[in-house]
Amino acid sequence: MREFKILGIVVFFTLVTYWGVEPFAHSQMHKHVEGHEFVYDGTADIEETVDAKKEMKKAYWADVAKIATLKGDATSGEAVYAMCMGCHMEGAVNMGGVTPPSLEHTGALYDKNYLIALIKDPAVAMNTDHKFADTMMHPMGSIKTMVTEPQQIADVVAYLLTKKAGEVTPKEAYAEACGRCHEMRYAKWTQLGKTPFFKEKKDELAHQIKVLDEQAAVKGYMGKLPPDLSMIIRARSEHFLETFVENPQSQLAGTSMPRVGLSKEGYEKVTAYLTMIGDPSKPAREAIGPWVILFFVVFAVLAYLWKKETWREVH
Ligand code: HEC
Ligand code: HEC
Repeated sequence: MREFKILGIVVFFTLVTYWGVEPFAHSQMHKHVEGHEFVYDGTADIEETVDAKKEMKKAYWADVAKIATLKGDATSGEAVYAMCMGCHMEGAVNMGGVTPPSLEHTGALYDKNYLIALIKDPAVAMNTDHKFADTMMHPMGSIKTMVTEPQQIADVVAYLLTKKAGEVTPKEAYAEACGRCHEMRYAKWTQLGKTPFFKEKKDELAHQIKVLDEQAAVKGYMGKLPPDLSMIIRARSEHFLETFVENPQSQLAGTSMPRVGLSKEGYEKVTAYLTMIGDPSKPAREAIGPWVILFFVVFAVLAYLWKKETWREVH
C-alpha cells in the first residue's frame, strides 16, 4: 500500500511539471507563431507593421493580387528576363553585400505571388523594408526602374513558371535559396559555393581569403554573419524552420534575414537537403524502428514465459 501512495505522489508531481510548468515556461519564452501554408498575401505584414506603413503595405499587396490575375505571356517574359540576367548571370559577383543567386530553378522554388511581389519591390516582398530609408537602396532595388508595367511583371513570372520550373535537386534548392548567405561546413559549402579540391596549398589559401572577403561583405549587409546551417535540422523544430523561412520577422522581430518566399515544394526540397547533411542517418534510423519494436515484442513474450516457468513451483 505504501508503495502505491509513493507511486501516486511521484506520478502526480511528474504530471504537474509536465503539463503545467513546462508548457507554461515554453509559452512565455517562445510565442506561438502561426504558419501561413506558404501563402504570400501580406496579411501578417500588414498586421505587424508600424502604423505609418500600414496603408502602403495594403496598397502594395492589393497590387500584387491584381497582377496575379493578369494572364502572363512567357514569350514576352523572356525579354524581361534578360534584364534579370544583368545581375543574376552565371559567375555573378557580390553586389551590395550578397551574390545574386542563380535563377535556374526559380519557378520550382518560389511561390507565384511572392515572385510578383519581389519584382514589384524586393525590400517590401522580403519584409526587410525597415532596413532601407528608400527601398531603391536594396541590392535588387533598381529592378523597380527596369520593370515598371504590371503586364511585364506578369509576363516574366509566367516565363519563370514555365521555363525555370524543371526538376530541382535538394542541393540546388539550398544553393539557390539559402547558399548565398549561409555556410554549411559539413557539406563543404561556403557563401561562394562548393569548395573545390585544391592540389596546391597556395590555391587553397587564396580561396579561403576570397571566402573571408565574401563573408565580410555578407556580414556588412546583414549586420552579422548568418549561422552555419549544417545542424539546424536537429537544433530547431520543423514548425520553427517553416515559419522562420516563411517570415523571419514573425519569430525574430527586427531580424535582417529576408523572407525567402519559397513555395511548399521549394521548402520541402530545401529541408530535404538540410536533413541529408545534418541528419544523414535518419532513413536508416526510421527503417530500423519496426525491427526494434518487433524485438521488444518477442522479448516480452519470452520474458513472460520464462517468468512463468521459474515461478511455477511458488504460485
Ligand atoms: C540590380 C541587380 C538585380 C536585378 C536586375 C535583379 N536581381 Fe534578383 N536579386 C539581386 C540580389 C543582389 C539578390 C539577393 C538579395 C538578398 O539576398 O537580399 C536577388 C535575389 C533574387 C531572388 C531570391 C529572392 C529571395 O526571396 O530569396 C530572386 C528569386 C530574384 N532575385 C529574381 C529576380 C528576377 C526574376 C529578376 C528580373 C525580373 C531579378 N531578380 C532582377 C539582384 C538583382
Ligand atoms: C540574404 C541572406 C539570407 C538568406 C538568403 C537566408 N538567410 Fe537565414 N539568416 C540570415 C541571417 C542574417 C540570420 C541571422 C538572423 C538574426 O540572428 O537576426 C539568419 C538566420 C537563420 C536561421 C536562424 C537560426 C537560429 O536558430 O536562430 C535559420 C533557421 C535560417 N536562417 C535558415 C535559412 C534558410 C533555410 C534559408 C534558405 C531557405 C535562409 N536562411 C536564407 C540570412 C539569410
